[in-house]
Amino acid sequence: MQNFRLATIIVLLLSTLVFLGLVDHSAAQNKRKKDSPKSKISTLFNDKCAKCHGTDGRGQTVEGVTAGAPDFTNSEFQDKADDRQLGVVIENGRSQMPAFRDELTKDQIKTLITYIRGFKSK
Ligand code: HEC
Repeated sequence: MQNFRLATIIVLLLSTLVFLGLVDHSAAQNKRKKDSPKSKISTLFNDKCAKCHGTDGRGQTVEGVTAGAPDFTNSEFQDKADDRQLGVVIENGRSQMPAFRDELTKDQIKTLITYIRGFKSK
């Protein structure tokens, strides 16, 4: 009888552990989803750039309009500027566009350029 109770307790404990493991696992999966490279880049853009460029890249925020931010969805803009030039402006700034040389790594700037290219309207 004593053994049976002990066995029940052990089974209960084990299933609790398995259950907690599952919960933990799905929490870890959610976290991974949130930290996926793509959402990280949009977070970076939204944190540092959207104030002027807008989360939609159109530059229609109060700061963006005042400063004269370009419309990233405009294909004329996209076709005119090459990646190297965009990188130079992000690094060094130009007129009202601040320099991000000290804030961003080269890799971050590169991925931001890819992200900006994604605004181009089809
Ligand atoms: C304070 C407002 C402001 C912020 C913040 C800002 N920008 Fe700009 N950005 C501008 C303005 C204004 C221009 C237009 C500059 C000009 O007239 O030469 C511009 C231009 C650009 C261009 C176009 C360069 C070209 O060749 O025409 C790129 C690319 C760009 N910004 C990327 C970014 C990225 C990436 C960030 C965030 C890391 C950012 N900007 C943050 C205001 C801003």
